[in-house]
Amino acid sequence: MRRAVCPGSFDPVTYGHLDVIGRAAAIFDEVVVATGSNVSKSRLFDPEERIAMLTEATREWPNVKVAGFGGLIVDFCREIDAIAIVKGLRGATDYEYELPMAQMNRHLTGVETVFLPGAVGNAFVSSSLIKEVAAFGGDISAFVPAFVAERLTEKLASRPS
Ligand code: PNS
Repeated sequence: MRRAVCPGSFDPVTYGHLDVIGRAAAIFDEVVVATGSNVSKSRLFDPEERIAMLTEATREWPNVKVAGFGGLIVDFCREIDAIAIVKGLRGATDYEYELPMAQMNRHLTGVETVFLPGAVGNAFVSSSLIKEVAAFGGDISAFVPAFVAERLTEKLASRPS
């Protein structure tokens, strides 16, 4: 069983993430989408909400599972016996951000990171930009599944002003 982990904040999951997850699912026997916390980013959705959205959004792939993790991604990979971390790269900025993490993770436990080039159409799609566009009433329907757009709208409306 060749198991890989697709880690991220997924706050919320986008079509860019889903492109990478689906392609990883075609390469590995099993893919565990793992939602963790990026200490340098503030979050809108709590972990349970992010896991619920990911579970719904990845339903079409029988070999994709969703989990939360709290500590280091390398420890999570070891716990579930994953041989690789899969990350999508939208461009050079992503590469510069991801490369030291991949090198650190390999240094820590030897886990490999596999980079998949993001689809060209998703080059500008990020959870942060989607939240900003949605917060000002912009149309995000091209970037996230409809149910995610709805939950984002509800979440933004319920925030204290
Ligand atoms: O979607 P993001 O915000 O780029 O996801 C980053 C995330 C959560 C995958 C990354 O910050 C992470 O792996 N955090 C867990 C803590 C950890 O292992 N940090 C050291 C990485 S070298």
